[in-house]
Amino acid sequence: MKNMIIMLTAAAFLWSCGKSNVVTVHSPDKNITVTISTNDSGAITYFVQAIGKSVILPSQIGFEFKEHAPLKENFEIKEVRKLRYSQEWEQPWGEDRLVKNEYNEAAITFLEKSPNQRLLRVVFRVFNDGLAFRSEFPKQPNMKGEITILHEHTEFQLAGDHQVWWQPGDWDIYEHLYNTTKLSEINALKYQNHSNLAQTYIPGNAVNTPVTMKTADGLYLSFHEANLSNYAGMTLKVDTKNNLLTSDLVGRADGAKVTRKIPFPTPWRTIQIAKRAGDLIESKMILNLNEPNVVGDVSWFKPTKYTGIWWDMHIGTKSWDMASGRHGATTQYAKEMIDFAAENNIDAVLVEGWNTGWEHWIGFEDREGVFDFITPYPDYDLEKVVAYGKSKNVDLIMHHETSAAPRTYEAQLDTAFSLMKRLGIHAVKTGYVGKIIPKGEYHHGQWMVNHYRKVTETAAKYQIAVNIHEPIKDTGIRRSYPNEITREGLRGQEFNAWASDGGNPPEHLPIVAFTRMLAGPIDYTPGIFNIKLKPYKPDNQVNTTLAHQLALYVVIYSPMQMVPDLPKYYRGHPAIQFIRDVAVDWEKSLVLDGEIGDYVMIARQERNGQRWFVGAITDENERELKLDFSFLPKGADYQAIFYLDGPDAHWNHNPTNYEIREYTVNSSTKHTLKLAAGGGAAISLIKAE
Ligand code: NOJ
Ligand code: CA
Repeated sequence: MKNMIIMLTAAAFLWSCGKSNVVTVHSPDKNITVTISTNDSGAITYFVQAIGKSVILPSQIGFEFKEHAPLKENFEIKEVRKLRYSQEWEQPWGEDRLVKNEYNEAAITFLEKSPNQRLLRVVFRVFNDGLAFRSEFPKQPNMKGEITILHEHTEFQLAGDHQVWWQPGDWDIYEHLYNTTKLSEINALKYQNHSNLAQTYIPGNAVNTPVTMKTADGLYLSFHEANLSNYAGMTLKVDTKNNLLTSDLVGRADGAKVTRKIPFPTPWRTIQIAKRAGDLIESKMILNLNEPNVVGDVSWFKPTKYTGIWWDMHIGTKSWDMASGRHGATTQYAKEMIDFAAENNIDAVLVEGWNTGWEHWIGFEDREGVFDFITPYPDYDLEKVVAYGKSKNVDLIMHHETSAAPRTYEAQLDTAFSLMKRLGIHAVKTGYVGKIIPKGEYHHGQWMVNHYRKVTETAAKYQIAVNIHEPIKDTGIRRSYPNEITREGLRGQEFNAWASDGGNPPEHLPIVAFTRMLAGPIDYTPGIFNIKLKPYKPDNQVNTTLAHQLALYVVIYSPMQMVPDLPKYYRGHPAIQFIRDVAVDWEKSLVLDGEIGDYVMIARQERNGQRWFVGAITDENERELKLDFSFLPKGADYQAIFYLDGPDAHWNHNPTNYEIREYTVNSSTKHTLKLAAGGGAAISLIKAE
C-alpha cells in the first residue's frame, strides 16, 4: 500500500488582484455565491446564496482583545487577491482513496481607517459543497507580538427558523444526545446537570459543532470548523429570537480565549451546503481545508479491526483496577482475547486496565502523578502478551487513560511511547475522563487543543497512531497528521451499558451520521450481539436490532473498528461472518440514501480489492428502502450475503431476530430492504469467480 499522500494533479491560478468595495466569489459550479463588503459602520460583512436562495443573510466578522481596541468596524478593503484551485490527492487510508479539492478563493485585506490603521485579512474559499472562511492577522506595525483574544465575533445570520440537529455547547464533552428542534426552540442550558456527565460545563445557550440544519426549502446546512490548531474550539451561541448564531470560543480560567503571536490565522469557519442529506457525508471540504501530510509515510499503520478487554468493564463483569478482585487485564484473559481475534480475522487486541493507577481515577480530585504509563499490574505480563500476540499475528493496542491530568501524561510521553516502540506497538487509545487539571482549563480550550496536538506529533515520531477518547473535536487534522486516526467525541456504545437515561435511542446513529460524522472518523464500538445485556445489566440494553449493529461497521466510518462484545456471544453465531469479512479501509464510499434522524444507507468499496459492503440503519420506525445496485461495476456478478432483520425483529421486543440470505446480484439488480423498528441491514458483496 502506498501510504504517502501524493498530489495527483494540482492547478492554482491567481486570476485577479486589486481593490474594490464589494467582492463576490462563486463556487466552481456557480451554485453558491458569497458576497463580501463593509457596511455603513465599516464592519466586515458577508452573505451567502445557494441555488438562488439566501442561506446566510448579512453577517459580521470581528474581534475583541485584552491589550487592544476591538477590531470590528471602520474598515475599508485594501486589497483583494483571487485564486482558482483544483487538485486531486490521495489519502493514506480513508473513506475514499482519491479526494478532489476544488474551490475559488478571495483573500481580502481590510484596513482599519485612522487612527489605528490595523490590518485584518479574511480568506473565503467557495467549493461546490459549501464555503469556508478564516481570519488572518498579518504582520503590521500597530498590532505586534502576542495578542490575547477575548472574543471572536463571527456571525451566521440564518435566513429562517430551520430544523436543527444539535447538542449543547459544552466546553468539556461531546457525549450528549442530539436534540431535534427548531432553531428558535434550542435550549442548551437544560443539559447542565446531566447525571451521566459529571464534568459537563455549558456556559450559555450555545451548541457544539458540527450542527446540522434543514431549511424549509429542503436545503441541508452544517456548520463546523476546519484545522483547529493553537486556538480555542468554537461553540455557537444561539439567539433564538433572531435566527442568529455567533461564535463563542471555549474559554479558560482568566476569562480570555486565545493567546497567539502575530502573524497567525484562525481555524476555518465552515458551512456545508447540500441538496441531498447524503451529500453532507460525502463532502470532503473539511479535510481539504487542512494542510497536506506533515508526518510523512504512515504505512506502519494499517486500518484495523480490534477486540479487547473493555466491554467487560462497562457491563461490570471485570474492573480496570486490581483492588476490586475482578481485574480484567490479566495475562491469561489477554491471551484468550488474542486467540479469539486470531480465529476471527481481527487484527488487534486492546487491553484496558493494564497499568497502575486505576485505584485513583474517577471520583478523585488529586489525579496528577497517579497514572503510570509504563508499569503493568503484577498479574499482567506485558512482554509475554505482546509475544503471544506476535505468535498469532495479532497486534496489541496500548491504552493510556490520563484521567484528564494532561501534565502527568506529557511528562511520561517519551518513556511511554519508547516502550511501545520497543514492543512494536503502533496504536494507542487515549482517554481524558473527568475535569481537566489544572482547574479552569477545558477539554476544548486552546491549552488542551495544544496538548492533544503535542500527543499526536510526539506519537508520529514513534510511529504511533492515536485513537482519542474524550477528545478535542475532529476538524480534519488527519489530513496533516494521518496518525490521528479516530476518536470518540460522541455518546458511544458504552452509554448503553450504564447510562441511567435508557441509553442511546434508535435514532442516535441516524443523527450522528449527519452531524458528528461530518467531522471525521468515529470509534463508536459497534457490534454488540448480547443486546439485552443479560444477565449483567438488567436495567440497560442496546436500543437497536442485531442487524443494525452489523450495519454500523459500514455506516459509521473509522479506520479502527472494535468488535467489543464478549467472545462467547460471537463464537458459533452465524452473523459473526459479516464482522470477519467486512473491510476497514475504502476505495470509495457512496451515501445511497438518507434523511437526518430517520435512516441512512451507505455503500463502500474496499481498498485494494473488489468487494463492496452496504450498511443501512433506521430509527425507531420500521421502513422499506429501495436498494439499487447500479454502483457495482457493469457486467460482473456478485455473491451477496444479506444480514437482515428477521420477520419479528424489533429493537426492544425482539432485537436478536435476524436472518441471512444469499443472492446473486449485478449492477441492474434492485432490491427492497425491510428494516425493522430500530433495525438495519448489512450486506457483503463478493465478485463471483
Ligand atoms: C472512557 C472511554 O470512552 C472508554 O472507552 C474507556 O473504557 C474509559 N474511558 C476508561 O479509559
Ligand atoms: Ca467516553
